[in-house]
Amino acid sequence: MKLNIQVLQPHQLLDPANKTLLHNINDLINDAYSIHGHPELDGSYHYQALYKERRITCEDQLVHELGESGSIAVCTDNDLNEVPELVHRIEKANVYYTSKYGQVVAVASLKPWGGKKTVLFAKARQLAREGNGASSVNDIDLARLSQQELAQQKRKSETWDWEVSACACVNYPRYRGQGLMVQSLDALLNKLTRRHNELKAAGDPRGSLKIKLWSSALVDSDNPQYWLRRGFVNEGEPDLAPAGLWSSVRDFEIQTLSKVLE
Ligand SMILES: CC(C)(COP(=O)(O)OP(=O)(O)OC[C@H]1O[C@@H](n2cnc3c(N)ncnc32)[C@H](O)[C@@H]1OP(=O)(O)O)[C@@H](O)C(=O)NCCC(=O)NCCS
Repeated sequence: MKLNIQVLQPHQLLDPANKTLLHNINDLINDAYSIHGHPELDGSYHYQALYKERRITCEDQLVHELGESGSIAVCTDNDLNEVPELVHRIEKANVYYTSKYGQVVAVASLKPWGGKKTVLFAKARQLAREGNGASSVNDIDLARLSQQELAQQKRKSETWDWEVSACACVNYPRYRGQGLMVQSLDALLNKLTRRHNELKAAGDPRGSLKIKLWSSALVDSDNPQYWLRRGFVNEGEPDLAPAGLWSSVRDFEIQTLSKVLE
């Protein structure tokens, strides 16, 4: 493996030279988020589609999600052949690995924390209860409610808050569980820490706050445990959302986790 991790700003994703790269990143995220499963008692894994829509529905969605100050770490394996098939083949005792996502093997991003979704989810549950059905949940003014809730949380916050988001690693044993996400996140945090130091030196009040990382993890998936193993702690109880919200085909719970960087 010839691994390389680059940290890109959202506007760089829009560079025409990065068109294929962005496409591969989107594909990887969509595949990684499209199935979640739970282990059966016999050790087999039960997969089910949880969402009606893909995680990324248009090519420049990530750019909007990350906003002006977010960033994305893209881990590539320069040993990977760029063949659009999900196979590896063995030729003359040499193993040639090929991937569906070009050379992209993992991505992680950081963006300003979007806030715990307690109020938003409660409103969505109320609408669902009022009998308007799952489709009405989509009608909620998500952005407005999220903004209000975030503003309230920000007023109370004494930390500089960042959300770890859109994390994905290709689902091949060669790459999953090999520390690629940890390394991608470290690359993002190195940049963030440098920016934090610059703010401090410039007398910006954010420079004197501690950096706090946040993550939202689907309960019943491996993700809450993944972040707990990375030193995150649960922020209160999980929030329950009704089917229909975020195109989910069933009710779901999100565990919010956080970690203050020392
Ligand atoms: C969650 C997800 C992104 C993790 O990606 P990953 O690259 O496999 O994660 P990492 O390899 O960094 O995980 C670290 C693990 O690798 C192991 N590891 C092996 N070599 C390592 C190394 N050199 N450095 C660090 N960790 C290493 C660690 O022991 C650790 O194991 P543990 O979690 O049991 O403690 C991936 O499972 C995924 O794509 N899931 C589907 C998408 C999704 O749900 N994303 C949302 C996440 S909230």
